[in-house]
Amino acid sequence: MNQSAPQGSPITRRSFLHSSGAVIGAATVGSLAIDRFAYAQASDTIKIALIGCGGRGSGAANQALTVPGTKLVAMADAFKDRLEGSLGNLKKEHPDSVDVPPERQFVGLDAYKDAIALADVVLLATPPGFRPYHFEEAVRQGKNIFMEKPVATDGPGIRRVLAAAEEAKRKNLKVGVGLQRHHQPGYLETLKRLHDGAIGDITSIRLYWNDGGVWVNPRKPEQTEMEYQMRNWYYFVWLCGDHICEQHIHNLDVGNWIKNGYPVSCHGMGGRQVRTGKEFGEIFDHHAVEYRYADDTRMYSQCRHIRGAWSSVSEHCVGTKGSADVSGHLIRATGGDKWRFSATKQVDPYQQEHDDLFAAIRANTEHNEAFNGAKSTLTAIMGRMATYSGKEVKWEDALNSQISLAPDKISFDAITKSQPMADGSYAIAVPGKTITV
Ligand SMILES: NC(=O)c1ccc[n+]([C@@H]2O[C@H](COP(=O)([O-])OP(=O)(O)OC[C@H]3O[C@@H](n4cnc5c(N)ncnc54)[C@H](O)[C@@H]3O)[C@@H](O)[C@H]2O)c1
Repeated sequence: MNQSAPQGSPITRRSFLHSSGAVIGAATVGSLAIDRFAYAQASDTIKIALIGCGGRGSGAANQALTVPGTKLVAMADAFKDRLEGSLGNLKKEHPDSVDVPPERQFVGLDAYKDAIALADVVLLATPPGFRPYHFEEAVRQGKNIFMEKPVATDGPGIRRVLAAAEEAKRKNLKVGVGLQRHHQPGYLETLKRLHDGAIGDITSIRLYWNDGGVWVNPRKPEQTEMEYQMRNWYYFVWLCGDHICEQHIHNLDVGNWIKNGYPVSCHGMGGRQVRTGKEFGEIFDHHAVEYRYADDTRMYSQCRHIRGAWSSVSEHCVGTKGSADVSGHLIRATGGDKWRFSATKQVDPYQQEHDDLFAAIRANTEHNEAFNGAKSTLTAIMGRMATYSGKEVKWEDALNSQISLAPDKISFDAITKSQPMADGSYAIAVPGKTITV
């Protein structure tokens, strides 16, 4: 979320970039003498490393490089082909600000550590199952961070991200999370009005990400099971979180934003009715979850990956004095008054989230979206726990879950916890039987 910044902090951007590995508490920052720091020039170059060079990572790098005074200096990916493809495209787009010679191209499962070491700002855009490890390492190395959503796929992952977020706060690091609706003027204006009481107290919320689903990469004989799952990360819960985490998080996050809080419990139903082939791993093709907030407000959520069915990606809410089409940026008060957002200029929220992060870095203003990113991710994880188990799931139980989905070691010969059966298919959650917390 955009947060307002403490004004007049004496730490300059240069000193911030170069000293942020040191522990600087907020109280200490305010008392440090200004002459202990070199002044930053607006022209100082900010060095960027990209970790996870796929579609979104390449997009995020493009956006970061569109911010003046930035340079891509290192890249890391589990797979060489993905890194090379991304590098080629980025070089074409930004010939003067991509400087990633072979010695700064890192491939493999430990590659992230080397790339992080070379940058001021790291972009974390692997599948979300790896995010807790990568975020922890970037914070440990004292770097500013943009990380994609979701930020984890299970309770233990969320706890790691929350702990690292605290550490990032202590170190005065800036952290952006790819929930870009928080940087989109139509949402910002609509939410401001809702929070100012335009439709009274919110009593219910409806959210949808119903559409057709994504890609499949066929299995190749030379692949280990780990590589196969990583190349098809969308269909494996430890890597993706299921599509309720991967996509629907955007809508769930808006629901939380509307309520200015997080749900206390949920129950739901879901399954796998159309997308049943073994190439679709272990995730469901539909989930419907009813969330409950502490004041008993309900949030009704649906997400579906079924082609040819009703399709909608949207958020809506009802209050004591009206209703809102939040994604349509339209508010209807009881009695007929209507307000609709009207854009004065086109803003690309993917670009804006980077503009805001880098502006916070240069000005050394507060910017840490990791807490909300983790809690909105947990909202999605809790929904999945409810649809897989068929049980009511409480926030605290989801957060404190001891079920870790990732393999015990991260390597290409790792034994993943879900293994294919003789026919190549995977065990699917069975509501009423599957245990998720
Ligand atoms: N904010 C948004 O609107 C938005 C849109 C799309 C994707 N995303 C998010 O971005 C992330 C990436 O999605 P994508 O569509 O780019 O996927 P992708 O498959 O295109 O890219 C992922 C990349 O990460 C690499 N990778 C996998 N494991 C790795 C590891 N351990 N270390 C280093 N590299 C590794 C893969 O080889 C691949 O190049 C996901 O979390 C996704 O949810 C966000």
